Amino acid sequence: GFWAVIPAGGAGTRLWPISRRHSPKFLHDLTGSGQSLLRATWDRLEPLVGERILVVTGVAHEDAVRRQLPMLGYDAVIGEPSPRDSMPAIGLAAAVLERRDPEAVLGSFAADHVITEPDNFRQAVAEAVVLARRGELVTIGIDPTGPATGYGYIRLGEPLDVVGAPSAHRVDEFVEKPDLETATRYLESGEFRWNAGMFVVGATTLLELLSENHADMVDSLRTIAADPRRMTDLWPSLHKIAIDHAVAEPAAAAGRVAVVPAALGWDDVGDFAALTRLVAESSSLPGITAIGPADDIISIDSTATVAAGGRLVALIGVENLVVIDTQDALLITRPDRAQEVKQVVETLTARG
Ligand code: GDD
Ligand code: MG
Repeated sequence: GFWAVIPAGGAGTRLWPISRRHSPKFLHDLTGSGQSLLRATWDRLEPLVGERILVVTGVAHEDAVRRQLPMLGYDAVIGEPSPRDSMPAIGLAAAVLERRDPEAVLGSFAADHVITEPDNFRQAVAEAVVLARRGELVTIGIDPTGPATGYGYIRLGEPLDVVGAPSAHRVDEFVEKPDLETATRYLESGEFRWNAGMFVVGATTLLELLSENHADMVDSLRTIAADPRRMTDLWPSLHKIAIDHAVAEPAAAAGRVAVVPAALGWDDVGDFAALTRLVAESSSLPGITAIGPADDIISIDSTATVAAGGRLVALIGVENLVVIDTQDALLITRPDRAQEVKQVVETLTARG
């Protein structure tokens, strides 16, 4: 069967102080949709896979994940003792799945992305599953809307001409987070799509691809899947590496990756500038984009993205600010400096 895997591990440091170590971005309703990003991800996947969903998250977030997704069975949430990046998380899900279902195909989808075209998403995933059943590693490629430097890029190769997957292409190359000059060149060439970090692949195929460069990791993952008590001693020794580097890049170089290009209205909601673009201006407060309820915001001649986290927030005659108030921390910045918010977290971490 086809299974959805949701690696929920990102720290979301550029969304501090809403996203915190104890309460990362995927647990929050950032866009005002009425549900958390994690719950929205589940809603999007449920029509495709029903109950065949696995969430891999830090042990510290296991309870919160179960509370937000009470429909999940006990076996549907895997807690990892420490973050080892996306490859061990998705690889462990693959090792667990191949034991439950030797024919399992998995789709890995981040817990904290926004997709405004769910029908196109489901269509693209359906094509990807057709290809994955033929042994391909498949990714979904997003039409780039600007020279973003925070994403990976996928160079499209020749069309594949597969029945049931009419839009598929070969992937010639993955390039992870190019600099601005390179990203601009890619955009102008028209040959590139964004890597949305979505992979669809047979569980056993993924582990075989991984074993070509990381055979020891595959051994450990299969051992843990067979005997979860081995998590404690084996997990900390796993190589910390992203699935893009561990599998996607080498497999693409060997001509073994396919891409389904798709228009999903996709955004990975990386920072407050992205969030400002995603959330509509508040109807009662001209110029104000409210993250969460707007009742506690007073604006006089101001433009800003504002989160009021319990106190009243009043703005008078200021332009183009980001004001994020929470119970124990206040952030004031501008959208064009939104990337630098992660430096606050780095400073805090260095202080210990
Ligand atoms: N469970 C778990 N544990 N999940 C993890 C861990 C971990 O230690 N580390 C990362 N993940 C999950 C994240 O929650 C996210 O869903 C996914 O793996 C990707 O990790 P990120 O750390 O967010 O990667 P990135 O944003 O730098 O880059 C990736 O995603 C971009 C799109 O959002 C790459 O695939 C890029 O090429 C891509 O453009
Ligand atoms: Mg990310």
